[in-house]
Amino acid sequence: MTEFSRRVEQVSISGIREVFEAAGEDAINLGLGQPDFPTPEHARQAAIEAIEAGKADAYTSNKGTEDLREAISTKHFRDNDLDVHPEEIIATSGGSEALHIALEAHVDAGQNVIYPDPGFVSYEALTHLAGGDPRPVGLREDLTLDPATVEDAIDDDTAAFVVNSPANPTGAVQPPEDMKEFARIADEHDVLCISDEVYEHQIFEGTHRSPAEFADTDNVVVVNACSKAYSMTGWRLGWVTGSEERIERMLRVHQYAQACASAPAQYAAEAALTGPQEPVEDMRDAFQRRRDILLEGLAEMGLECPTPRGAFYAMPKVPEGWVDEVIDRGVVVVPGEAFGDNGEGYARISYATDEETLREAIEIMAEATEAVR
Ligand SMILES: Cc1ncc(COP(=O)(O)O)c(C=O)c1O
Repeated sequence: MTEFSRRVEQVSISGIREVFEAAGEDAINLGLGQPDFPTPEHARQAAIEAIEAGKADAYTSNKGTEDLREAISTKHFRDNDLDVHPEEIIATSGGSEALHIALEAHVDAGQNVIYPDPGFVSYEALTHLAGGDPRPVGLREDLTLDPATVEDAIDDDTAAFVVNSPANPTGAVQPPEDMKEFARIADEHDVLCISDEVYEHQIFEGTHRSPAEFADTDNVVVVNACSKAYSMTGWRLGWVTGSEERIERMLRVHQYAQACASAPAQYAAEAALTGPQEPVEDMRDAFQRRRDILLEGLAEMGLECPTPRGAFYAMPKVPEGWVDEVIDRGVVVVPGEAFGDNGEGYARISYATDEETLREAIEIMAEATEAVR
């Protein structure tokens, strides 16, 4: 029989799914990686209007509509002080596809990709699918990625390194001086930096800076999406930015794998990016309140947790057996090792849930902590 490809055999279904399946139906789910808010009304309406006007029935340009790419370009100028020409953008099926085409276009068999461990699960899997060798690197005590660690890990076979700030699963935010360093490393070592900025708006302390602001070469590509910023995970709309040469290569993958991002989603995304930004601020404020509630709860339990300054995750150090005990008592959290070997001894808690439910979950976690002590 036809064997499965070696690339695909190296990848397994995310450990996060297994946790969800193990939990009962009434469980409180603090395992989810998506905001619990509705998509802004004006974004939904824009898609409805495009559909009703018959504008969303056909393929768009492979890169995405001119208007959407204009909107993304304006967003980068507004939020990141970056000049990104619409030709330097591909609209993708979520940040996930943007990561995929970035790696496919730049990684050859035998080359390695450096990424944070614990880190977002796709980096390892997409490296395998591109035929590359994953090279996970550990984090500082505060769960940020030390540029020196990345620099030490680079060798002649390094195709790319991934920076993710604010980060999943840690909530860590890289300070601007680190982002400058990542840009320098990309320039000096002539290695691609893939900057995953999907949580850029969920930041409570510090500011988000992109390595793309500091690079002198075109060695930074930026991955972003409407998913987390506008609570649009179901719409599947993200994008990648890069020099025209890099975009042309990534487009070769996107064109054959995807053709174009979903047209209705493109209209919704354009409206989200150009419309009122209050929903983004409201979500950030809600996440910050919940983060504070969760951190207080964890401190009362005696669990040490590096302060998450962004995204909507906390990653406390937990005693052995804690995750199973918490799940058995009806609260879903994800074991740290689902995000890499260095995640062992930690758990990822998502606070994308309302305050009342979060408080209820904290009580249960406190009981579980007592039980395993
Ligand atoms: C760090 C990070 N990057 C990218 C993605 C992909 O997001 P999208 O839903 O836009 O594909 C996620 C989703 O959880 C994420 O956490």
